Amino acid sequence: MKSIFAVVALLALATARPAHHARQAPATTPLNDLIKAKGKLYFGTATDFLDTTGERTDTTYQEILNTTSEFGAQTPGNAMKYDTTEPTQGQFNYAPGQQVLDYAAANGQLVRCHNLIWHQQLPSWLTSRTWTSADNATLQGIMKNHITSLITHYADACYAWDVVNEPLVDGTGALQSSPWLDAIGPEYFPLAFKFASDAAAQVKAATGKDIKLYVNEYNDEYAGTKTTALLNLVQSVQAREIRIDGVGFESHFIVGQTPDRATQAAAKKQFADLGLDVAVTELDVRFSSLPPTSAGLAQQATDYVNSVGSCLDVEKCVGVTVWDFEDKYSWIPSTFSGQGEADLYSDDYSAKPAVAAIQELLAG
Ligand code: XIL
Repeated sequence: MKSIFAVVALLALATARPAHHARQAPATTPLNDLIKAKGKLYFGTATDFLDTTGERTDTTYQEILNTTSEFGAQTPGNAMKYDTTEPTQGQFNYAPGQQVLDYAAANGQLVRCHNLIWHQQLPSWLTSRTWTSADNATLQGIMKNHITSLITHYADACYAWDVVNEPLVDGTGALQSSPWLDAIGPEYFPLAFKFASDAAAQVKAATGKDIKLYVNEYNDEYAGTKTTALLNLVQSVQAREIRIDGVGFESHFIVGQTPDRATQAAAKKQFADLGLDVAVTELDVRFSSLPPTSAGLAQQATDYVNSVGSCLDVEKCVGVTVWDFEDKYSWIPSTFSGQGEADLYSDDYSAKPAVAAIQELLAG
């Protein structure tokens, strides 16, 4: 009887949401296994272990997150950001980030550590005052201490670090205003990579392992002012003979407005041609209005495939990370009012058509 009820319940679900199907056991959807067979390093996901989100106590979520055949890498969504790691100047809180590293290590998963220098999620001791060029030396010291402390503390547990996050303004391609830019000027960008590469060299000396140093940006997934500005920025670091290893393409897309596969591959290739690794770092594809239609879910699947496919098309693209995999924990609804359903799984854990579409792409 029980199983009949289960079938009836599934049928009811299928009727209510025609394009969804019930999620199968993780072993049948091994996105990480599939992408590795294509020569990539990982298919990963963001995760958020700060106590407020509920992800830590959601056993279904944890089961999928900790299935390494599904996800070969994790990115902490918030746990390593400035406001969490250095809430008081010079006093570091490494514990939340360490939780993610411990789970990942137990699972044999890589971790993309995120992030060191950004203009958002800064502690109040950095934002409650105005910084000017008179504070140049002070802010260089603050920046160096933060970068060095985090990189050397977490050491080789980080496969990569997003050293600078979202440095550019949409549209203009100007450097984003921040305490770093206000006090240090445009030199803050190559300096951040200098401090990071010095710290990474210390880790290498101690462990023998290299940490990949990335700049991470959005709206760099297609040709445009911002992408050109990012190319120039990367080259300004290389021209100073400072190490920069990779460029992250966040890839927060909207259903039906996602750049096509060739466009995304071409943007990545421009950076690969500079000798850099590239990666899809925060992929999600949101509906700008809800609820989704069946046609919308099919379009979302195509959009996901275009992004993952663009990574397959570029040899130096190392992997793909989704910005969490379960709608319950997506950042979209709280940031973009009225939008959502951006992740691979609906909030009842049913897999969206995008999951099968990515599997088909990667198995092909
Ligand atoms: C988001 C987190 O997912 C949210 O929980 C938080 O409230 C805001 O930041 N680009 C980034 C990520 O580089 O760090 C952001 O993460 C999403 C946009």
